[in-house]
This record gives sequence, C-alpha cells and structure tokens, in this order.
Amino acid sequence: MSSDKRSPLVVTIDGPAASGKSSTSQMVAARLDLRHLDSGMIYRTITHARLRGGEAPEQWTEQSVLHAARRVSVAPGATSFTPRLDGADCEAAIRGDAVTSTVSLVAKMPHVRAWVNALVRATAASHAIVVDGRDMGTAVFPDARLKVWLLALPQERARRRLVQRTGRAPTDAELAAETAELERRDLYDREQTQPAADAVWLDTTGMTQDEQVAKIVELALERR
Ligand code: CDP
Ligand code: CDP
Repeated sequence: MSSDKRSPLVVTIDGPAASGKSSTSQMVAARLDLRHLDSGMIYRTITHARLRGGEAPEQWTEQSVLHAARRVSVAPGATSFTPRLDGADCEAAIRGDAVTSTVSLVAKMPHVRAWVNALVRATAASHAIVVDGRDMGTAVFPDARLKVWLLALPQERARRRLVQRTGRAPTDAELAAETAELERRDLYDREQTQPAADAVWLDTTGMTQDEQVAKIVELALERR
C-alpha cells in the first residue's frame, strides 16, 4: 500500500482523549505496513521543551512556545516516529502530569498549530502514515484516503485510561475523578476536536480493540 509514489497513503484517526487513537493507529499501521505518527506527541514535546525554560505557563508567550517548537523534530523508527528535542529522544519525558495539564494551553496557539501541521505534512510527504490527533482529517489532510472518527463514552474512556496507567480495575472514586478530568479536557479541546464531514464514525464503547483495528484495516483496504 505504501508504493503509490504520487500521493503517499494517509489514514487519519481523530477523536477525544483516551478514545483509543494512538494504540489503535499503531496496530492499524502495523497491519498495513505503514508508520504511525502521533500528532499529540508533537504538542506534548513542545510543551515539555517550553516547561524546561521555566516561568509559569500562564506567562508563556506564543513566541516563546514557537521558539521551543523549533527545537522539536520526529525521527522515523521501524513502525512509528519518536519525538526528539534538540535531536535527543524524549519519549519518556512527555507523558507525565506536568505536560498533560499544560499541553492544551499550547495547542490553543494558532502559530504553534500551524507549525505542528507543517511538520506533520512534511513527514507525510516522505512516509505513508496512519496519523492520529484531533484535526488530522480536517485541518491537516482534507484529502486523506481514509478518515476515522473514534469515540467512546467518557466513563469508558476514563476506565481505559486508568487501566492503561495502573494495570488494574479502577475504584468508583478513581473513575469519577478521571471522567471529570477527561470531560474538562474535552471541553478545553473542543474547538480543535472536530470530525471531518466525510469521516467514518466508530463508537468503540462496546468494542474490543481488535474489533476496531479489524474494522479500520478493512475500510483502508477497500480504499486502496
Ligand atoms: O492521548 P490524549 O488524547 O490524552 O492526548 P494526546 O493525543 O497526547 O494530545 C495531547 C493534547 O494535544 C490534546 O489534549 C490536545 O490539546 C492537543 N492536540 C491537538 O490539539 N491537536 C492534535 N492534532 C493532537 C493533540
Ligand atoms: O490515543 P488515545 O488517548 O485516544 O487513546 P489510547 O492511549 O490509544 O487508548 C487508551 C487505552 O484504551 C489503551 O490502553 C487501549 O489499549 C485501550 N482500549 C482501546 O483503545 N479500545 C478498546 N476497545 C478497549 C481498550
């Protein structure tokens, strides 16, 4: 599938936090022999870079965040891309609470969004990818071969996130707190989290991950 020289294949998978975008994209990419690019990872890496510069996030100017962004790149691996800051792998640093609680602020900055989108497009120009995020099928790849809008009820997304983080079933109190946190981020991210008009909607609330991967692979193969 990755041999079309004129337009490298792009599959976009967008949706709210913890709907399964990254893990599903990774599996779909492996099945289709493509690479997975996580656009949220780029926003996280920029946030990490800016956090290292000090100052409270409320005081960050867009210019200073853009300055941090210019130190960020992505490097192709066998099946995905790893985030780089000043050329060094920083995957381990970008998933912590400090980045998670600040990243949406950075993602609101229009020039930063334009910078990220240019990096994602440049990556897609030389690699066939499955890319996940919020606006990949709308702002970045309006002509993507396949666009998927992945969703699940907030409480199910919270349960998945907690299981992913702790490896065990959550308590009711943990579930309530995580659901509230996800709904807060949904609200904050809602402007840039929009399904494309021609996206295929996949409500995964009652699905297993294998089922949703199989469905997306089937759709991609139909559009070969
Ligand atoms: O995995 P999760 O959905 O929690 O977040 P992520 O994909 O790692 O993205 C982190 C944050 O980056 C999101 O909460 C959005 O604020 C922002 N983001 C965005 O605005 N646009 C994208 N295409 C991807 C992420
Ligand atoms: O990237 P995003 O934040 O949308 O979600 P993720 O980190 O890929 O997925 C959150 C967790 O939900 C992962 O541990 C997945 O394995 C799990 N999961 C899923 O994605 N789909 C299901 N049907 C069931 C669980």
